[in-house]
Amino acid sequence: MRSHLVTFFLIALSRGNYFSIDEASVFVMTDTFGRIMKDSLEGKDSSYIIERDDGFIRHTSGESYVKPYEEWNEIERKAMKYVKGPVLDVGCGVARVGDYVTSKGLEYYGVDLSPLAVELCRKRGHKNVYLMSADDIQLDRSDFKTVVLFGNNFGIMGQPEGVIRMLKGFHQITVDDAIVLAGSLDPSKTDDEMHLAYHAKNRAEGKPIGLVKLRNKYKGDVDDWWYLLLCGKELMSELAKKAGWYLDRVIGGPTHRRPLEQYNVGVLKKKSE
Ligand SMILES: C[S@@+](CC[C@H](N)C(=O)[O-])C[C@H]1O[C@@H](n2cnc3c(N)ncnc32)[C@H](O)[C@@H]1O
Repeated sequence: MRSHLVTFFLIALSRGNYFSIDEASVFVMTDTFGRIMKDSLEGKDSSYIIERDDGFIRHTSGESYVKPYEEWNEIERKAMKYVKGPVLDVGCGVARVGDYVTSKGLEYYGVDLSPLAVELCRKRGHKNVYLMSADDIQLDRSDFKTVVLFGNNFGIMGQPEGVIRMLKGFHQITVDDAIVLAGSLDPSKTDDEMHLAYHAKNRAEGKPIGLVKLRNKYKGDVDDWWYLLLCGKELMSELAKKAGWYLDRVIGGPTHRRPLEQYNVGVLKKKSE
């Protein structure tokens, strides 16, 4: 407990945040994603809760982040038909994509903001995985042919401006005929009253309907709030265009959760000048 509190204070100080003792004693731990994936890799229970800021709660688990290719959803499996190396996996988690692409003989690089995920990737043999943010990738090569954004990572930067900044960065480190495989749930494909009310509130505030504020709750720990932008085809296409890409095609289909829920992988290509 003591070492956790010390860790918390060091993280808080490094972020320039100041908390009262009361807030600190609430026992906040970060890097829940890292610990969820570690437990899942080790075969332990990795059930966790994603809470949205309107109180909506989704019970889920880390299992999907460690599944072999054969057990991925059909949409991401189909999207892998387009993959060419070298591959850059952004927000790579523990490199399930890396396991697949290296089995096909392709070169694999990954970046992630979770220190534990990066450490696990390296331990698992993926040496070219680095602790870096999706919108500030500094690597010693600029010849990537595929950038992968699976598990809703198209919207990983939250605000639309952040997504555009991220996509512009990819432009700099990829070859002319590169592609981005951009995964996102389409937020409009729902009949859930709570989602529809959230969309209406976002719309009224001038925000995209799929801009969601979330936090992870895992084994008694509550992580920081983070933003995710869920995009349908239109918004994906619009943001891509602003960053020098275009939406060439969409591979889409229902998720395993609900028949109405739709997950898309957009294939982005570079716009010719
Ligand atoms: C939902 S998980 C998906 C992992 C992996 N793409 C997959 O589909 O298995 C999201 C991952 O993105 C990472 N992440 C979140 N924000 C990021 C950012 N700004 N830059 C890089 N990685 C980020 C998290 O640490 C986490 O590992």
